[in-house]
Amino acid sequence: MTGPVLAVDQGTSGTKALVICPERGVIGTGFVSVGNRRLPGGLVEADPEELYESVIVAGRRALAEADEPVTALGLANQGETVLAWDPDTGMPLTDALVWQDRRAESVCAELAEHADELRALTGLPLDPYFAAPKMAWIRRHLTHEGMVTTSDSWLVHRLTGTHVTDAATAGRTQLLDLDKASWSPRALDLYGLLDERLPGVVDCAQPIGTTTAFGAEIPLTGLVVDQQAALLAQRITAPGGAKCTYGTGAFLLAHTGDTPRRGDSGLVSCVAWRLDGRTSYCLDGQVYTAASAVRWLTDLGVIAGPADLDRVGGTVPDNGGVTFVPALAGLAAPWWRGDLRGSLTGLGLDTTAGHLVHALCEGLAAQVVELAEAAATDLGAPLDVLRVDGGLTRSALLMQTQADLLQRPVEVSVLPDATALGAGALARLGAEPGLALADVLPDGKPSAVYEPRIGPDQAAERLAAFRAEVTALLDRTPV
Ligand code: G3P
Repeated sequence: MTGPVLAVDQGTSGTKALVICPERGVIGTGFVSVGNRRLPGGLVEADPEELYESVIVAGRRALAEADEPVTALGLANQGETVLAWDPDTGMPLTDALVWQDRRAESVCAELAEHADELRALTGLPLDPYFAAPKMAWIRRHLTHEGMVTTSDSWLVHRLTGTHVTDAATAGRTQLLDLDKASWSPRALDLYGLLDERLPGVVDCAQPIGTTTAFGAEIPLTGLVVDQQAALLAQRITAPGGAKCTYGTGAFLLAHTGDTPRRGDSGLVSCVAWRLDGRTSYCLDGQVYTAASAVRWLTDLGVIAGPADLDRVGGTVPDNGGVTFVPALAGLAAPWWRGDLRGSLTGLGLDTTAGHLVHALCEGLAAQVVELAEAAATDLGAPLDVLRVDGGLTRSALLMQTQADLLQRPVEVSVLPDATALGAGALARLGAEPGLALADVLPDGKPSAVYEPRIGPDQAAERLAAFRAEVTALLDRTPV
């Protein structure tokens, strides 16, 4: 039996590290927040050194708290964030362009005539959210030096000297052949990236290298993109279930088995994970701003922070007629209109902070309902239940609103840190090849289950109000 593992979730707003013991659960935690620069024109940047430092400091804190040696390291990453870096020195050559960054719209516009081909090949729509447009933008506008990769490859190179990415993260680039789970020469050619020194695509659980960055030597044996890590930790390892993680954005993923399913509902078809060379697939839908919309409301002084949502929302019974489409960084699936901006309608002199909080919760929950319905359409069956995790699941108001609008039970993960738990499970699996996936999955018992408290008619009415505002936004902003 392996001993405790160190699991690191390098996310958009911070890095969470857990030391997870197979018998005793989480025995050490560390968290370090990271800043993002949000600039006019939809630019969102991070300092790569700050990302790396946050991994090291959060990891060391978790290890210090656990005060026990660990046998393996698992790393989850924020997916579509990219940078250029020098392979000789390991130094970054550019800032990290965060997944929310929209500057590569020009690259996507140039490739518009190949959108269908790229989607068929890679499962992803043409959108600057994904890594390849940003990689091409960096090559055209910032530097031709070094490597240009997703942030995981840079972190792994810094930690272990190995030049790899995992199949699930590679699946977020729009450069991976979805059926073969290997780099697609055609997609690379279209993006002008054929000559890049791309990382090798590895399984999500296998020995990758060793690091001494946390003190003693630790083998890195788990590597995965964050949303897929949460899908695994929520024990959704076969078709039928879905999870939503409410982090900086909110991401709904539904497992589709061992063949990719390219639906018509606007969701992304991508790699869930690759284990022992076998690829599992999922559908993925995105709400670009969840905790970052809560932060926006916080910065305006409406609430003191995420922990204040329920107190302020509890001062009034409903949204008071206010509708909020929190598309503060545009709308992703199923609309794919990253250029849109949010809308707040129905305001009156009697509108209070509480009404705004209700309207925000409804706006987030309604987008997740759209994603769940799209997944159900593509899968040909409604989702039985939605498993949820991430920091915002601490808000009972948001979770109740989610269950009400979805008209399905919402099961809250015992630990909001499902992503790190998924990375830890993969680290164990990679460290001890004799183990089966079922042996390493965390306990599936939810900490709370929210049942719908309103009927289908009322839910449909509230969803219709949200959809009418989205339609008005789309009409006002033609492509
Ligand atoms: O696609 C971006 C996503 O994976 C980032 O997740 O948790 O940092 O919001 P998070």
